[in-house]
Amino acid sequence: MHDASITRLGPEPIALVEELLPRMTLREKLGQMTQHAYGVGDLEQAHRSVEQGDVGSFLNAGTLEIRNQLQRLAVEHTRLGIPLIFGRDVVHGFKTVFPIPLGQAASFDPALVERAAAAAAHEAAEAGVDWTFAPMVDVTRDPRWGRVAETCGEDPVLTAALGAAMVRGFQGQHLADGKHVAACAKHFAGYGASESGKDYNTTWIPEPLLRDVHLPPFKACVDAGVMSVMSAFNDLNGVPASVNAFLLQRVLKQEWGFSGLVVSDWAALMELLEHGVTEHPKQSALEAVRAGLDMEMATTTLRDHVGALVDEGLVSVASIDAAVRRILGVKYHLGLFDEPYRKPPTVSVALSAPHRAVARELARASVVLLKNHDGLLPLRRGLRKLAVVGPLAADGANQLGCWAFDGEAEASITLMDALASRLPEAEVSYVPGVSDTRSLDTSAFESTARVVASAELGIVCVGEDALLSGEAKCRAFLDLPGAQQALLERLGATGTPLVVIVMAGRPLLLEPVCQHAQALLYAWHPGTLGGEAITDLLTGAACPSGKLPISMPRAVGQIPVYYARRNTGRPPKADRTGVPKGTPLDPVDFDSSYLDLEVSPLFPFGFGLSYTNFGYAELRVTPPRAPIGSRISISVVVGNRGARRGTETVQLYVRDLVASMTRPIRELKGFRRVELDAGEQQTVSFELGPSDLAFTGRDLEPRVEPGRFQIWVGSDSNAALSASFELV
Ligand code: BGC
Repeated sequence: MHDASITRLGPEPIALVEELLPRMTLREKLGQMTQHAYGVGDLEQAHRSVEQGDVGSFLNAGTLEIRNQLQRLAVEHTRLGIPLIFGRDVVHGFKTVFPIPLGQAASFDPALVERAAAAAAHEAAEAGVDWTFAPMVDVTRDPRWGRVAETCGEDPVLTAALGAAMVRGFQGQHLADGKHVAACAKHFAGYGASESGKDYNTTWIPEPLLRDVHLPPFKACVDAGVMSVMSAFNDLNGVPASVNAFLLQRVLKQEWGFSGLVVSDWAALMELLEHGVTEHPKQSALEAVRAGLDMEMATTTLRDHVGALVDEGLVSVASIDAAVRRILGVKYHLGLFDEPYRKPPTVSVALSAPHRAVARELARASVVLLKNHDGLLPLRRGLRKLAVVGPLAADGANQLGCWAFDGEAEASITLMDALASRLPEAEVSYVPGVSDTRSLDTSAFESTARVVASAELGIVCVGEDALLSGEAKCRAFLDLPGAQQALLERLGATGTPLVVIVMAGRPLLLEPVCQHAQALLYAWHPGTLGGEAITDLLTGAACPSGKLPISMPRAVGQIPVYYARRNTGRPPKADRTGVPKGTPLDPVDFDSSYLDLEVSPLFPFGFGLSYTNFGYAELRVTPPRAPIGSRISISVVVGNRGARRGTETVQLYVRDLVASMTRPIRELKGFRRVELDAGEQQTVSFELGPSDLAFTGRDLEPRVEPGRFQIWVGSDSNAALSASFELV
């Protein structure tokens, strides 16, 4: 299935690399395995290290000029002239910033996500970046974890599809064409399962769960040809990922045949001392090499200690050669041996019209309409007086999100910018209400309420500053931070209908928000073109199509709450709706539920409203009974039953009803976006093959078991239209 024309790493030797290796000293080899963090430590010393062949890579080397200057030292001042490779976190955009990955995931649109990654790659490549530390394909079911913003959410199938799309976008067909960068699937593996939602925390993941949920997105990236993989910070089942031979050697390199390079996360080898698995950096180096780590980010454990380990016979030169071969292979495929320098572009593509168009389209596709009481949206024509409230409505920096290193706030179109220019007939007044999302100051509430009271409609933009999500930005409370909820309540009391727009890096608790919002749009951090995209939806120039890539909890106490749960021996008999939060009822049933809250999330995975509505009919499964190993075809007719054109994401869920291991009550196995005119219908087909129906068995081997499977097709993970088939 692989396109032979795509640049790909394989096991076959590369002549240039094989010719170089025997000429390299051990010290030069260890230099290749060392990635220096530019700007950390003494700069002159860093330059000397490059000249001595002690550095093979830089991260965050800043400008093109700095990059080329460092490259010149490597190419023209070292014995062998091996070029450096320059890495940077280009996660959801470069100058043009796209929605955070969790927002991108809500588009359920791999082709669009691929175009965004390609645009980011081009902007980064022309600025001298060779290698991005993305995509992040950690599956997470914990919105407390700040890095949920960087993920594609709770589902392995969605994450795999979007992760592979990002790899294709970043790397393109021809990696060395000056428009693309090497990608890096991170953080391998299990990082998204950090206990209690705290970053860097321990993970314990039984192998079946690891193989069925956490590893498939990485496998999809490897299959898409990803050039590198980053080992995670966390310890997985007691062994830190950077020295986890099961992960790096066995699964990644042996089982999957990965030929690219494995880089550690930042200083992860030094952190082994803190983990308490090694007593001295030399022992860390030994463990890392044995486990199959190829390059160390930011610290020099390998460079400092592997020489002695080789002398002592504890590490073989062959194992070092194997690592260096991978590193040089990536440099070779990037064309760095042929063209180590980057020329400034004659015409820059940064923030170009086509890139901004992708950013607008993706931001539009990422926004999820969660509530639209009485069809308040799209805004009716002829509105004369609008009040816009909330710090995030006019904040070009915070709408960019957590990994916007290179983004520029001045390039952002905020919601206020867009509303003011696109509703010229209306009087649009803006009052922040609070100075920023974390402020507790309520002194402007009354004056803000007066402005809202005198308007026909209030548009309130609340949520989280960008730095409340991302690395190390975990939260134990998931309410709107600061005084924003109180502000919303005060504005609700004015009686003016409110459209609430939430910009946040994670799912927040929305029940109290919904109480005051006639309409609710979840916009994540939407990036550079966020304001324009949201305005497209508010005005009805575009129709909302985003779907939740993660369940929205009702309370922190429900976490983890995700759709692919298992049934248990005592499934909840019914969702006890209307349980007043915090007031335990008399115990009624001995089932798997809460006394003081429903068990369901507030909004389920896959959910998202539109301005039109879609119906499903004629679900067909063929054949209904088939031998194991067969492919099952599924088709359904989806129709646009509303009055305007819109896009639906048709979702297919499967349950293996009886198996030797308990199976999730539903698993997403396919999704398809279809755009339909009012009244139009279309047949959508899916195929299920053995790999879709397999799971990791008690013997830890993948297996498909005979028996009945139930399927559901519809608009979200609660889809009702159902059928079944049997494998014999
Ligand atoms: C993060 C990685 C990132 C690296 C380099 C680490 O702290 O965990 O995701 O790629 O820094 O910036």
